[in-house]
Amino acid sequence: MALKFKNQLKGKRLTLRRTKPTLKMAESMFKVIDENRKHLEPWFPWPKLTQKVEDSMKYLFDKEEETEKGKKVEYGLFIKNEYIGNISLFDINEKKKSAEIGYWLSSFHTRKGYMTEAVKILEIEAFEKLKLNRIQIKCDEKNEASSGLAKKCGYKYEGKFRENAFSEHFNDFRNTLVFSKLKSEYKKK
Ligand SMILES: CC(C)(COP(=O)(O)OP(=O)(O)OC[C@H]1O[C@@H](n2cnc3c(N)ncnc32)[C@H](O)[C@@H]1OP(=O)(O)O)[C@@H](O)C(=O)NCCC(=O)NCCS
Repeated sequence: MALKFKNQLKGKRLTLRRTKPTLKMAESMFKVIDENRKHLEPWFPWPKLTQKVEDSMKYLFDKEEETEKGKKVEYGLFIKNEYIGNISLFDINEKKKSAEIGYWLSSFHTRKGYMTEAVKILEIEAFEKLKLNRIQIKCDEKNEASSGLAKKCGYKYEGKFRENAFSEHFNDFRNTLVFSKLKSEYKKK
């Protein structure tokens, strides 16, 4: 039976709410993406492909298939009712008990510890409820914010894929860093 995910996870400052395919969610997501193009485009291909609310709506609909199969869950980060970005658990493999975390948030809210809080909230769910054994985080070698966050959250550097990605933004081949945390390294707070 496919893994089932909670609709809401609560932290001290943040509430993580599952990003469902509603018009309200699509509008909120599109607005934050549209306001943060410069901040997001170096690291993701999808902001360029997101040019109208309908594009966000299609994205939200399409990813539900993976969620129903228990392979991916995405949460919006909310401060009270203000949506500020996303965190997701994807490539969930029930046999290997492994998954990957991906994240982004509005530049206005960076460097305030919000994504550290979101990672910790999602880890509780992943390690304790979904019983995963390994979570990995991958990022571009030059993405200092993302690799810094992974390290700050206690993820161990495993190595580098050399020129395994091509970036339209930088118009060159990119190195990808891999970090991971095992259940045995995760400490309940
Ligand atoms: C990566 C990102 C999600 C970090 O979110 P955040 O909420 O700002 O992170 P936090 O405030 O929790 O920072 C935690 C730690 O990460 C590191 N860090 C965060 N931003 C950093 C930066 N710009 N440069 C270097 N280190 C950084 C620091 O060690 C920081 O701890 P400190 O503030 O006590 O020094 C955010 O910068 C972002 O959305 N970037 C654009 C999208 C992106 O790159 N996503 C990841 C793709 S792999």
